[in-house]
Amino acid sequence: MDRRAFAQTLAATLAGVALPRRAARLTAFSAPRVNGARLDAHLAELSAFGRNPEGGVSRVAYSEADRQGRAYATELMRAAGLEVRVDAGANIFGRRAGSDPSRRPLLIGSHTDSVPGGGNYDGDVGSLGAIEVAQTLAEQRVTLRHPLDVVIWSNEEGGLFGSRAALGELRAAELDLVSNSGRTIRDGIRFLGGNPDDLASARIARGDVAAYVELHIEQGGTLDRGHVDIGVVEGIVGINQWEVTVDGVANHAGTTPMDQRHDALLAAARFVEAVNRVVRGMPGRQVGTVGRIAAFPGAPNVIPGRVVLSLELRDLDAAKIRTLYARVHDAADTIARDSGTTFAFRPTVENVPAPTDPRVRAVIAEAARALGLSTMTLPSGAGHDAQDLARIAPTGMIFIPSVGGISHAPRELSRPKDVANGANVLLETVLRLDAA
Ligand code: HGY
Ligand code: MN
Ligand code: MN
Repeated sequence: MDRRAFAQTLAATLAGVALPRRAARLTAFSAPRVNGARLDAHLAELSAFGRNPEGGVSRVAYSEADRQGRAYATELMRAAGLEVRVDAGANIFGRRAGSDPSRRPLLIGSHTDSVPGGGNYDGDVGSLGAIEVAQTLAEQRVTLRHPLDVVIWSNEEGGLFGSRAALGELRAAELDLVSNSGRTIRDGIRFLGGNPDDLASARIARGDVAAYVELHIEQGGTLDRGHVDIGVVEGIVGINQWEVTVDGVANHAGTTPMDQRHDALLAAARFVEAVNRVVRGMPGRQVGTVGRIAAFPGAPNVIPGRVVLSLELRDLDAAKIRTLYARVHDAADTIARDSGTTFAFRPTVENVPAPTDPRVRAVIAEAARALGLSTMTLPSGAGHDAQDLARIAPTGMIFIPSVGGISHAPRELSRPKDVANGANVLLETVLRLDAA
């Protein structure tokens, strides 16, 4: 134990953050640390499934690449000595027994599915980092009191479908939604080894889990810009998505005068601009995005009669999302009136905002300090399965820097040292939660 670690343990004790004897003993003399090089190698291997020629990955949920990535992670889980099962929601769980059967499990994990044209760290760091924690505990023969469950949630990027299945919140109608893979949610869950006809069996009730901790890349640039090692997440934004259908009149591009058109694409273009104006028109950190758009019939010499686009609104406050939506809807009514078109809004995703648990936040901050890492508390502008778990268990999130604040893109990057730091903070947090 080097002088610095000893000084920190001492400082922590003196500062009244008296570590439970068991944690102090572990931390002081034989603190296990993850194998950063191995974790880095595993990330590189996982990135092969769904790799894009331009770099990055397209391992969208329910695709063949997703199935292969999950098979690879399952192998790592087994190699770490975990007992693996797939629940009806196609979530993968790997369990490591604890010494005290009366204790509920500590749950750690993330996701391995990606967005189209995404990066190799989003979700991957948290999933493979959690497996690395289990592997390290096994190698160091550290037996926890609590069972430890490592989880890989299914279809996170599509709208937290796996964790919402675990909360028993997936509605039957949602199973017919078509995912980025082209498969319906129902067929996708089945394709990955789940059972959409028995989702109730996947339910995790409030109190079943002692605590949930998710390691993740920040995705924004705050930590990287501030040269801060670790982010302690205070809350996770709510995310609402809609499919918006704009109907006008398809007509001949040559014979229809400009003033007699009901051009659905022109109306949609004004709508995209209106979303920007409305979202910027309120104080705060809310965001609004139109990320997907398609015009029909889609020919150069035909005035578009229909446009289908996606609308997404995010904020830490669900009421603010409702206000934004009402204002965007009003703007659409005005555009529809002025252009002789109609707008229809179909809600497709609703992820509820969630604050993390202050006790778990404190343990994460202590763990990072014990490792000599700098920390800051910040909100998450990205959604995570943690926002679902926060409704049934004390939940916390650990962020590591994303270089340049780039994510959901091939240039997404987190440095190996930050990945190892994050996994060590996760490990240290698990040890402290177990001892507490
Ligand atoms: O969309 C999100 O925020 C997350 O990356 N799923
Ligand atoms: Mn993610
Ligand atoms: Mn993502």
